[in-house]
Amino acid sequence: REIVVSGIRSTGVLHLGNYFGAMRNYVRMQEDYDCYFFIADWHSLTTHPDTKGLSGSVHRVLAEYIACGLDPAKVTLYVQSDIPEIAELYLLLNMLAYKGELEKTASFKDKVRQQPENVNAGLLTYPVLMTSDILVHRAVKVPVGKDQEQHLEMARNFGQRFNHRYGQEVFPEPYAFNFGHELLKVPSLDGAGKMSKSENQMATLYLNDDDDLIRKKVMKAKTDAGPTAPNTPMPDYIENLFLLMRLVSDDSTILHYTAAYNDAAIRYGDMKKALAEDMIRFIAPIRESARELEKDKGYLHKVMREGAEKARISAAATLQLVRHAMGMDYRF
Ligand code: TYM
Repeated sequence: REIVVSGIRSTGVLHLGNYFGAMRNYVRMQEDYDCYFFIADWHSLTTHPDTKGLSGSVHRVLAEYIACGLDPAKVTLYVQSDIPEIAELYLLLNMLAYKGELEKTASFKDKVRQQPENVNAGLLTYPVLMTSDILVHRAVKVPVGKDQEQHLEMARNFGQRFNHRYGQEVFPEPYAFNFGHELLKVPSLDGAGKMSKSENQMATLYLNDDDDLIRKKVMKAKTDAGPTAPNTPMPDYIENLFLLMRLVSDDSTILHYTAAYNDAAIRYGDMKKALAEDMIRFIAPIRESARELEKDKGYLHKVMREGAEKARISAAATLQLVRHAMGMDYRF
């Protein structure tokens, strides 16, 4: 079976972008692939050096993984920092990654703008650590959202560079995966940019939001007075609202509001009410199930422990190949 790896940073509660960009595909892939899904707690240190809330976040993301439908009996679920082989591979790959190319990475440039007081080396080498996450299991498919595309390109480069440098095909080429569709970018509710954990909290729908908060956020989403003539092109923020509707509503609802828009008869208040209720129908069961799971620390720890054991077997096998390719298996 093909090997799949993906992870989510433990920087708080997951949102709709994480779900539809990544998690939904994790769940769809768990039957047919050899899946490794993890919690990227090391990566979260690049932006969140304060570790006070980290343990809570790690438990939360794990509970959400399971609440969204991942079955620990079918996939390997683990915490990144439980796998020291990832750190070893990261160290080795860092010697093949150049300052110039790392500085040009879009996510690095964003972070330099967002946290000029903390431009640490971990931020710069973030793509190398992510490459190590992927290559440590020699994965070929990586289900992620649109914002990770450039990181995947770098992962292919670093892996191929290793293969060429040491003359052995240790690593296959990993590709971002969305079942043949374009990678997804879930927009934020304010009509500007993507949904994200850190930016405008009221424009992001979290999987932990209560019903009333979901209603409030959706009703506040940016709209306008509506089209004044039939078949006018949609502004971006209205397009975004329809995109969100396509994620959670049924076909008849979508058709209804699309037709209303094209007839210039749409009432955005009604559309948002319908969207809010469908959003609640989608989020509420995940929220409740994650809250229950989160209380069962014993169970979560068992999942972490067993996941780490399985992940380390795969990781150790890769590192053996790596050391061999580099001629660093001195005692053989
Ligand atoms: P992170 O934690 O920011 O996000 C986790 C996943 O959610 C996706 N995502 C989105 N997809 C669509 N629309 C959005 N608005 C949206 N926001 C987030 C992300 O694309 C991602 O798939 N670097 C990664 C974590 C990581 C990783 C890895 C992923 C570390 N090592 C190895 C894959 C393989 C990150 O920061 O994701």
